[in-house]
Amino acid sequence: MIRFDAVSKNYPNGTTAVDDLSLELAEGGITVLVGPSGCGKTTTLRMVNRMVEPTAGTVSLRGRDIRDVAAPELRRGIGYVIQHAGLFPHRTVLDNIATVPLLLGWGRKKARARAAELLELVGLPAGMAKRYPYQLSGGQQQRVGVARALGADPPVLLMDEPFSAVDPIVRAELQTELIRLQKELRKTIVFVTHDIDEAIKLGDNIAVFRTGGRLAQFDSPERLLADPADDFVAGFVGQDRGIRRLSFVDAAELPLREGRVLSAATPVARARAVDEPWVLVVDGDRRPLGWAAVGGLPDEGTLADAVLAPLGHTFSLAGDSARAALDAALLSPSRLAVGVDAQGKVVGVADAYELSAATSGPEKDGPSTSAAPSGEVGKQGPPVHEAGEKR
Ligand SMILES: Nc1ncnc2c1ncn2[C@@H]1O[C@H](COP(=O)(O)OP(=O)(O)OP(=O)(O)O)[C@@H](O)[C@H]1O
Ligand SMILES: [Mg+2]
Repeated sequence: MIRFDAVSKNYPNGTTAVDDLSLELAEGGITVLVGPSGCGKTTTLRMVNRMVEPTAGTVSLRGRDIRDVAAPELRRGIGYVIQHAGLFPHRTVLDNIATVPLLLGWGRKKARARAAELLELVGLPAGMAKRYPYQLSGGQQQRVGVARALGADPPVLLMDEPFSAVDPIVRAELQTELIRLQKELRKTIVFVTHDIDEAIKLGDNIAVFRTGGRLAQFDSPERLLADPADDFVAGFVGQDRGIRRLSFVDAAELPLREGRVLSAATPVARARAVDEPWVLVVDGDRRPLGWAAVGGLPDEGTLADAVLAPLGHTFSLAGDSARAALDAALLSPSRLAVGVDAQGKVVGVADAYELSAATSGPEKDGPSTSAAPSGEVGKQGPPVHEAGEKR
């Protein structure tokens, strides 16, 4: 879709902003460019819509060298979102969003109807249409910025740190919202951020840059966490990458044991025979009631007579990740995680060790296209990733 072939950008002052970049960004996917300040992310992004022209190499869009497309025509098909939204302060929200359709000569009525549609799409109430940007919160302004970029329904969206000026809670909301929007719109999105967590949450693929405008690794988030190309990438993805990897493992794949799950009607003698320190007590519908410490059970009766320790949180095999399962194990008084189905019925339990063993198997998604530590990405030819290879 968007392809960089041996692209470099050198400035007259001697700065190499981007160095011999070869990269192919999949159609309909989110590619995240991440890396430390000054590593060439914005420059790379702006070479897509010709706000910056490369010194060497070729950028192409759907097989066409973008130098052969006049910049205004090119930009019609490319929405652009920046930090602080960059809204026109003297225009209402609705007119801000209608900017591009108006430029394209849609006429006021049609452009405003489209803008109203987009306002709803980005989750803002219709009542905000007549406000001015200063009357909105940072997060709301950012949503208007996204709506404006979508004005003419461009197939490509360039987003340069669009959420970095808002607080972490709003930021998380905007990220979730973008994922929802993307499921519906399937744009080809290039998203720049400093934040590796944001990159992992949003990216179908992630390009990690190092200072000097060199590509360090281009991979899916799972591969980046599982197999960083070198120490720089490993340092960038952080010390807790092992735990973060678990986000990509479906809880439904975890091995759970049933032996420690007993109904409240079970005689205490049978619970003792399980020979485990804790058993999970469930009701007649297999809904979890709590943990019984086997050492503290009454001499006779059933588990209904036992004092139960609180359950902690359960994890769902219908939608949760192994990370939620591990968290459940760590917070549980028994150190066991309780897995439930979509109806909330207990499927089984597992401890942290069993959970982590189940998630450290061999990689499933093919060989890495990691760059060599020497940074010889360009010389290996561009690694090609297809959108939708994960999720
Ligand atoms: N017009 C210019 N003239 C000279 N050098 C420039 C120019 N624009 C950018 N640079 C340099 O190119 C390098 C890459 O800049 P770029 O803006 O692409 O970095 P970035 O990764 O987006 O950084 P940040 O995370 O801080 O936004 C930097 O060293 C920057 O100083
Ligand atoms: Mg930048």
